Amino acid sequence: MRVHVADHPLIAHKLTYLRDKRTDTPTFRRLADELVTLLAYEATREVRVTPFNIETPVAPTQGIHLSSPKPLVVPILRAGLGMLDGMMKMLPTAEVGFLGLERNEETLEARTYANRLPEDLDKRQCYVLDPMLATGGTLSAAIRFLVDLGADDITAVVLLAAPEGIERVQREVADIGAPITLVTGAIDERLNDKGYIVPGLGDAGDRLYGVV
Ligand code: URA
Repeated sequence: MRVHVADHPLIAHKLTYLRDKRTDTPTFRRLADELVTLLAYEATREVRVTPFNIETPVAPTQGIHLSSPKPLVVPILRAGLGMLDGMMKMLPTAEVGFLGLERNEETLEARTYANRLPEDLDKRQCYVLDPMLATGGTLSAAIRFLVDLGADDITAVVLLAAPEGIERVQREVADIGAPITLVTGAIDERLNDKGYIVPGLGDAGDRLYGVV
């Protein structure tokens, strides 16, 4: 897996306010949205394109447009939904599929509870959205799920990642032949004994949607 830390002053600025426990939910949502749009720019560097002939008012020329089938954006429920609008601003013609994976808080393992994906992802480029790469269990499971359906190029977009999670995903996807990329706003210090990223930003789902 290729790991790309999108270090840019605007990303670091927005992340700082996201981390701040005084940031309220509406502001958190807006910042997450803006941050994802910046990360999406980095994440789509290798999006597949096809030459496309057009005429400007002055002369014919060749440009490019997104190849078909269009990329599939897959937010991991629930917190990944908070990243969907920001991603779709950059890829408005992408399709969207939903995957519900939740973490068992005792075993910290991922379990699939919802799948609204196309049945066949043959040769599809997929962008997986999940704000926090913590233990890595959810992301590994999501990548495996998409590859088993035929996806042949997967980019995970996360706001923050823990080194332990990155290592686990690296290990667990090592046998997958397709290119796998991780784009993150930052790599934090570590996980604590509850599986939270330190310093992190707390529970991303709760901060996006309130505690339920
Ligand atoms: N999920 C979160 O929302 N936050 C963490 O720190 C780890 C997992």
